[in-house]
Amino acid sequence: MLRLCFVCLGNICRSPTAHGVFLRLAEERGLLDRLVTDSAGTSAFHVGERPDARSQMAARRRGFELPGVARQFTAEDFSRFDLILAMDRTNRAALLAMARTEEEARRVRLLRDFDPRSPRDADVPDPYYGGDAGFEEVLDICEAACRGLLDYLERERRI
Ligand code: 4NP
Repeated sequence: MLRLCFVCLGNICRSPTAHGVFLRLAEERGLLDRLVTDSAGTSAFHVGERPDARSQMAARRRGFELPGVARQFTAEDFSRFDLILAMDRTNRAALLAMARTEEEARRVRLLRDFDPRSPRDADVPDPYYGGDAGFEEVLDICEAACRGLLDYLERERRI
């Protein structure tokens, strides 16, 4: 089993979107039974909430369901996941500050670094305070990055 956790700030927009997109694409490749997946936020702002209604609607229009209820990432999550996918550099920094060992720090990666067409160190932009176009952009980015991530995991025989 490979264990992955998608992480953003609130755990209601970007990380549930990445999680839902990843699950669908992994299912299409027949890989679901080799994966354990979850998402979390570096903040506690929205703990207990389902994904933002705007994220859910935009995802549903493309046939994705967004799983989960918001929770905050904790240091114990480093023991539960092999790969921790940060949505942006700020959240990556927050995760790295929580890592207790070099080995834990190496499990933290930026999601978009798995998209071969993305610039290095690129963020999934926060759509929360913007309009509908931001939620579509998050979906475009997550689809490309999750495809790249699955390509990487298969190529490197991690799954
Ligand atoms: P997310 O978006 O990190 O993609 O879930 C946000 C959700 C809530 C807030 C910021 C970003 N907030 O400030 O409440």
